[in-house]
Amino acid sequence: MTSGVKREGIGQYAVIGNPVAHSKSPWIHARFAEQTGEPVEYGRVLGTIGAFAGDVRAFIEAGGRGMNVTVPFKLDAHAFATTLTPRAAAAGAVNTLAFNADGVLGDNTDGVGLVRDIEGNLGVGLKGARVLLLGAGGAARGVVLPMLDCGVAALTIVNRTASKAQILVDHFSDAARAANVRFSGGGADSVEAGPYDVIVNATAGSLDDALPTFDDTSIGPGTLAYDMMYSAQPTVFMRHVQTLGARSSDGLGMLVEQAAESFLLWRGVRPDSGAVLRALRLELSK
Ligand code: ATR
Repeated sequence: MTSGVKREGIGQYAVIGNPVAHSKSPWIHARFAEQTGEPVEYGRVLGTIGAFAGDVRAFIEAGGRGMNVTVPFKLDAHAFATTLTPRAAAAGAVNTLAFNADGVLGDNTDGVGLVRDIEGNLGVGLKGARVLLLGAGGAARGVVLPMLDCGVAALTIVNRTASKAQILVDHFSDAARAANVRFSGGGADSVEAGPYDVIVNATAGSLDDALPTFDDTSIGPGTLAYDMMYSAQPTVFMRHVQTLGARSSDGLGMLVEQAAESFLLWRGVRPDSGAVLRALRLELSK
């Protein structure tokens, strides 16, 4: 045990963040453990800003097998890992750490969690879809490769600061060419004409009730508008697209699906994420 690390309910796994008290991950993983019978204990670690590595080492020394990593430590976790999965390397950020005899494996399950929620829970196929991604920060970056991998026809990245979207387009251009995806981005004027099949809001706007700028003609009756944020009430982005007649979803399903991917990585067992998502939705509405 290292002093300065605040611990609560520590078992073999934990989420580390700052703040972390609000995290739903312990609840989700407890349901997965019940469901699968896996002997998983899952707690919370309030990480120390500027001392991430020490906190994680202390957790490993206390018998920890793996961690989920949340704000603001995803880049620290990327630096801490001794091996990265290709999707974590592409994302430039790590949300899942697995500790084993070979060292520390860093993975990123956020993007695949989004894809599984859209395709599996919401029933919208991404193969051949035209997708508009709003935002070009860490959250958006993690989504690009999983989207390209599932065979979208087009991916457009639009960001308030156009140059940041362009940096992402340059970074992933080889992968997009290999996947035969029409790939572009920049400011609000870089959208293609006509409605997109899927629009993903990966901006931090919903946190302070801000609507990212995008052209309303990008939304049609068949569009799924997906906000990576979630809250008990629909976000400002969801409310806006609803007024345009489109279907919307928050990011609660992505949260559960990224957790299920972490659980699969650690335990080799895929939990029934749909059942846990329904239960969590009910909890959130209480
Ligand atoms: P995260 O890790 O959540 O992605 P980030 O890396 O700080 O956080 O990125 C935040 C993203 O949300 C950026 O794309 C940012 O746009 P800028 O690059 O122009 O800053 C976007 N964003 C934040 N607040 C926004 C707002 N009010 N309207 C539109 N975009 C916003």
